[in-house]
Amino acid sequence: MAEAPNWSEQAVDLVGRAVMAPSSHNSQPWFFLLGEPYVDLLADRTRALPVNDPDGRELTISCGCALLNLLLAAADRDFQVENRLLPDPEEPDWLSRVAITRDTAERVPEADLAQFIEERRTCRTRFESRAVEQEAVDAMVEAAAAEGAWLRPLVSDERRRRAVELVVEADALQWSDPEWRRELAAWMHTRSEGDGLTVSAFTAPVAQMVVRNFNMGGGVASKDRELAENSPLLAVLGTDGDGPRHWLAAGQALQRVLLVGCSFGLRASYLNQPIQIGSLRGQVSELVGGEGLPQILLRLGYAPYRLSPAPRRPLADVIEWS
Ligand SMILES: Cc1cc2nc3c(=O)[nH]c(=O)nc-3n(C[C@H](O)[C@H](O)[C@H](O)COP(=O)(O)O)c2cc1C
Repeated sequence: MAEAPNWSEQAVDLVGRAVMAPSSHNSQPWFFLLGEPYVDLLADRTRALPVNDPDGRELTISCGCALLNLLLAAADRDFQVENRLLPDPEEPDWLSRVAITRDTAERVPEADLAQFIEERRTCRTRFESRAVEQEAVDAMVEAAAAEGAWLRPLVSDERRRRAVELVVEADALQWSDPEWRRELAAWMHTRSEGDGLTVSAFTAPVAQMVVRNFNMGGGVASKDRELAENSPLLAVLGTDGDGPRHWLAAGQALQRVLLVGCSFGLRASYLNQPIQIGSLRGQVSELVGGEGLPQILLRLGYAPYRLSPAPRRPLADVIEWS
């Protein structure tokens, strides 16, 4: 009979599922400190995007996504967990301690969501034209609320049209900034590097040079317009405040929304540009009633084909034993 896995194997298994989370530019800005028996999640600010994300807002949201995966993975192993957010005010990079009781607990229904952790992917192409069923929309709205955030679909044609205009305006602003382009180019990596936005080894040097040196805002904006206008669902995810605690909640909510969406066969992609630009963020807020802070603008639909997974860093690079 095979021996039961020990705690170190179990902890590494949990982190292995946590890092399947999405992250801004696939920067994977997290670090895990393992103890007996807990997992600490830390922000790795050496992987920050200071131009695109000067406050570390998206960095913290990305870590929140990984945190939800960790919690669901633990629930899937029938562990009982206690999640303490921002445990030490003196250590702002210490985002959470997940204390784990390894005595098997009664299985919680949400553990079933863990089966979608590996299946979830960002889909950057055009979606199929079929509409998203109302049952799926309602379930995703509920998923965001369960994590203390909100998801507001853009229902009217007028709001969708306005959202598309804001994305186009934001694309033009970002691409006209050489520092923003340099940062993006620096995160265009070949698959073997294990992180970043994947470009083929053959085209990488040229692609990076072009992004660094040329303002392609016009082309990107028209592609984004086409993608957004043809997306069955556009929705804004937000919170009632704007600080590390809200960003962690936004990340957990985003990941729960994505996994619930996945359970209905949906895939998502991001049009966050107008939220990343301070002067446009308020206008995104007005689109969804003017209350609260928008954190993520999603487009959702059914992917036309199977998507291959984005790379991840080796677990040995993100884990340390305390
Ligand atoms: C907070 C956050 C912001 C993101 N912003 C964008 C974005 O603006 N554009 C985009 O194409 N993808 C965006 N992504 C998706 C990441 O690029 C994607 O998660 C990463 O490349 C890994 O791929 P995967 O999601 O398929 O695992 C974002 C993800 C997160 C969590």
